[in-house]
Amino acid sequence: MFTMTKEVILTGVRSNDQPTLGNYLGAFLPMVELQRKFAGAYQVNMFVPDLHSLTTPVDHGGLYANTVMSLKYYAAAGLDWRNQDTFIYRQSFIPAHSELAWILDCFTYFGEMRRMTQFKEKAGDGEENVSVGLLNYPVLMAADILLYGARWVPVGDDQRQHLEIARNIALRMNRKFGDELFTVPETWSKQLAFAGRTEGVRIRSLSSPDKKMSKSVQDPRGTILLSDHPDTAAKKVLGATTDSLGRISFDWQRQPGVTNLLQILALLQGKPQGEINADWLDKPSYGELKQAVAKALSEFLEDFQAKLRGVDEAALLDGLKTSEKAMNQIAGGTLLRVQTAVGLRPRR
Ligand code: TYM
Repeated sequence: MFTMTKEVILTGVRSNDQPTLGNYLGAFLPMVELQRKFAGAYQVNMFVPDLHSLTTPVDHGGLYANTVMSLKYYAAAGLDWRNQDTFIYRQSFIPAHSELAWILDCFTYFGEMRRMTQFKEKAGDGEENVSVGLLNYPVLMAADILLYGARWVPVGDDQRQHLEIARNIALRMNRKFGDELFTVPETWSKQLAFAGRTEGVRIRSLSSPDKKMSKSVQDPRGTILLSDHPDTAAKKVLGATTDSLGRISFDWQRQPGVTNLLQILALLQGKPQGEINADWLDKPSYGELKQAVAKALSEFLEDFQAKLRGVDEAALLDGLKTSEKAMNQIAGGTLLRVQTAVGLRPRR
């Protein structure tokens, strides 16, 4: 019987498509850094939210293969999945995720879901034909977090609102059913401090830097896939949209293209943003900055793709079984506590 004794750090990356540089810098890398920094002191849960993949159009025939591929990406990114405090799993293999999501749905307001920025962006004007899954996707995400009592959830800036909803649902249910029902995930500012950052990671499209780099948007010139050939990726960087101001500064409002490049460079080189900004501040040449980012990116991709080829898939899938067994126990325990609190199971 597995019991949890350590605080939990948890994150997931959907498996519908090829992961992007945004996924890597916003989620894979922070998770791997946290695992290295806190090895032994925390439990690390890194799972594939495959049920979330159904919220937007997906190639159903390729979904399962993509799920397995996502696990390989975690390993290639440096996640030490053999570590005894680390658990990798597939969301749909732990039925408690969907069951808890249903209960949480009934304590979540339609209005708050409808106001979520990501829902509004993805639904656009065609709300009538948008799946209910897309609308209540943040509730399933809340279930993912609350089932394991995760306090720490490293995600990119675009997921901030969803993390806040998970907190709100937990606080609301704790008020109604008692404070011990859920561990409440920490606030965004505490998450940033925990990850040693001053602001959330937001990688923008290289071609339209006012928009996020996203796998679900058709923008091949602006999106770096982790599977891109290093030369292709370098070319995309060299062709990145900047501006006509002719000076380099870190300013998301006035110079989003240049700022995006500065951020990518800092994260790829593992240097503080302030240090990178100081190196480039007020330099007139956007070309030099692009060259530096292109070089850092192609070197990173070469290394990453070599690691991906070296992942032992059979061992990974074997580790998955043990991990999923343990997580089914934990998630089942939380679910039973909630079922009892809401009256679906007898109180002792
Ligand atoms: P998803 O699959 O869209 O993205 C996975 C992770 O990548 C980050 N990310 C980015 N970060 C910075 N800049 C970008 N351009 C960028 N694009 C993606 C996301 O912030 C995220 O951290 N709902 C989630 C998956 C999920 C989850 C969870 C995460 C389901 N349950 C529980 C944490 C905890 C999602 O769709 O992320």
